[in-house]
Amino acid sequence: MTANDSTYPWSGAAKEYFIRPDGTFVGDFEGMYRNCEDPWGQSVEVSRSPLNRIITSRIAQLPERRVLDLGCGNGDSSELFRTEGNAEVLGVEISPTAVANAKARYPLCKFEVASATEVARFADMRPTAICMSGLTWCILDGFRELLASIEKRFPGALLFHTLTFYGPGMQKYGTEYFTSLDELLPYFSPMTIEETFVHRVYPTDGSCNTLVVARV
Ligand SMILES: C[S@@+](CC[C@H](N)C(=O)[O-])C[C@H]1O[C@@H](n2cnc3c(N)ncnc32)[C@H](O)[C@@H]1O
Repeated sequence: MTANDSTYPWSGAAKEYFIRPDGTFVGDFEGMYRNCEDPWGQSVEVSRSPLNRIITSRIAQLPERRVLDLGCGNGDSSELFRTEGNAEVLGVEISPTAVANAKARYPLCKFEVASATEVARFADMRPTAICMSGLTWCILDGFRELLASIEKRFPGALLFHTLTFYGPGMQKYGTEYFTSLDELLPYFSPMTIEETFVHRVYPTDGSCNTLVVARV
């Protein structure tokens, strides 16, 4: 998304296997996890993130807590939702290596190898919360369809959607879809947006992490 290495938040593996600094999409998530144990630094970042604290506190308040964690990576976020949100969690991830890591590390969550776009497969779980943490840049072409499928299958559930936006001129990928939280929000219609949060994690360059909480 950005060619500026000093502010580029990801590991070398993410730059090689996900999106190159020139904005070319690679999308080899399995190759990424095979070559890098923790490509997003999530083993540390997941529990540090203030947005995740908001998510877990909302999950913990639900009368029934069944969480579908789409694009769960190595399962760090799923385990956080389980422990802090007191929830039953199913993590779904496209990379078999990441799912194997997740199963080994977090045996009290469930994990499956699948594309998030096949969300209808998980209807039997009757999730009361669906989390999409950092997934959307990976599935831009299927994003609208995924939201429509969530809308159809899981009415009444809470959707937690987090995404990082980069500062002016830094983003080189996906700009035809959205470049800011304001441009993203219409995609959630006809869901009800309950809350939005912006965490200015890189205040000097205008980049931010965002959270949308929507009622499906
Ligand atoms: C930025 S990482 C976020 C990981 C995790 N949600 C977290 O917050 O720590 C995005 C994850 O989505 C996965 N992914 C990419 N495309 C996917 C798809 N179509 N279905 C499921 N997972 C996918 C990637 O392999 C990667 O693990």
